[in-house]
Amino acid sequence: MTHIDYEQKIPNNVDLKSDKKLQRALEQWQPDYLDWWRAMGPSDYNENDVYLRTAVSVERDGWAHFGYVKMPDYRWGIFLEPQEKDRAIGFGDHMGKPAWQDVPGEYRNPLRRIIVTQADTEPASVEQQRLLGHTAPSLYDLRNLFQVNVEEGRHLWAMVYLLQRYFGRDGREEAEELLQRRSGNADHPRILGTFNEPITDWLSFFCFTTYTDRDGKFQLLSLAESGFDPLARTCRFMLTEEAHHMFVGQTGLGRVIERSCQLLKEHGGRDLCELGGIPLEIVQKYVNFWSSSSNDLFGGEISSNASNFFGAGLKGRANEEKLAVDHKALADVYPMEVLENGRLHKKEVALRNAMNEVLRDEYVSDNEKGIEYFNKITERNGVDFRFVLPHRRFNRRIGMFSEARFDPAGNLIDEAAWSTKVAAWLPTEADRAYVQSLMVACHARGKIAGWIAPPAKGIDGQPFEFEYVRL
Ligand SMILES: [Fe+2]
Ligand SMILES: [Fe+2]
Repeated sequence: MTHIDYEQKIPNNVDLKSDKKLQRALEQWQPDYLDWWRAMGPSDYNENDVYLRTAVSVERDGWAHFGYVKMPDYRWGIFLEPQEKDRAIGFGDHMGKPAWQDVPGEYRNPLRRIIVTQADTEPASVEQQRLLGHTAPSLYDLRNLFQVNVEEGRHLWAMVYLLQRYFGRDGREEAEELLQRRSGNADHPRILGTFNEPITDWLSFFCFTTYTDRDGKFQLLSLAESGFDPLARTCRFMLTEEAHHMFVGQTGLGRVIERSCQLLKEHGGRDLCELGGIPLEIVQKYVNFWSSSSNDLFGGEISSNASNFFGAGLKGRANEEKLAVDHKALADVYPMEVLENGRLHKKEVALRNAMNEVLRDEYVSDNEKGIEYFNKITERNGVDFRFVLPHRRFNRRIGMFSEARFDPAGNLIDEAAWSTKVAAWLPTEADRAYVQSLMVACHARGKIAGWIAPPAKGIDGQPFEFEYVRL
């Protein structure tokens, strides 16, 4: 069933009305979700019409419908990609057996943990971004922020459906708790570190949607391979939404860089801070911070959990099915540089234990492409500045590299060297204060703040001047 039923209170393509118990559970959760949205979602703007896209079908082409919607009226619902006939588990110890249509009893706990961890990131990011509307650099950006927010809300719905449909009472309790944890709250924080970092300026927002949403992409790619079929189908559709979030991040950072380059050209040699632009060194520091924090989201380099998840067929590699590799991953090893006794050396790790690192490899290589895109902008403008992606060992809080200090090139350094250089590598209080000082709303139609360039084109074929949000 690819058609989405919008006649229902909860739009869906899973024939919800034939499962009364589940429908009731979700309808009970719905007002709690809306209360959470009003309390912790975008501050204000809930009565404004926003030009948003809504899924009309899960087919690859033409799934979106664009129109004005007030955010609390957004049709959050449950959309899964159609079931593939006779799909088999594609990797791990159960490879070749039919994909599970129900939760395999032996894996109930790890599976619930995987789903809850993914689910928790969705409302967390909405909470992190809740104040940004007040300082949007344009109506176009304001609309993109809200699009990302409603879709993260939709992703929460996607995960809550799985919890309520397949995990009984435990699942219902988890669904409630997802609305109770709070990003950055000391007593009741979100599960993963990056999702407790404040996002109070748009440079951080663009970095988050570039680096943290891209972590999301790879987590979803690996879950899209899951032997638990409903999870795989849910994640496949979420990936189509995720692409837009990364577009917002990547082009957002590109537009900041573009504008800084323009200012440098026009006022050669002057300090960008005097001109109201963001110095490229500061952009680099924000990239360093968010990319390193997001590297942590992949977990430890050598991980028995990762091995178990893979062996059990719960979490594969990105695009596992299409890879021409041994899908059992039992015999292979992964050569890795490890930190042992305070020194780096090469070691061969059983491949299953290195699955976090395998996924991080893909992530890092995607990030490298993004950096190339930034450097094309500086080059095109004749500005002598090159962005560099910090090494995966830099500034880690999780995994073996969190136990020592590394410079952005990945060299092991001592604490003293770190202390003298950290202000050149990560945003300082002064950097943050300067960026914050630029955050003044520019909500007039067709206008844009001075620190960012307009986009190359608008949304849904509309011009930049379009009234993306009716204020
Ligand atoms: Fe998401
Ligand atoms: Fe996202």
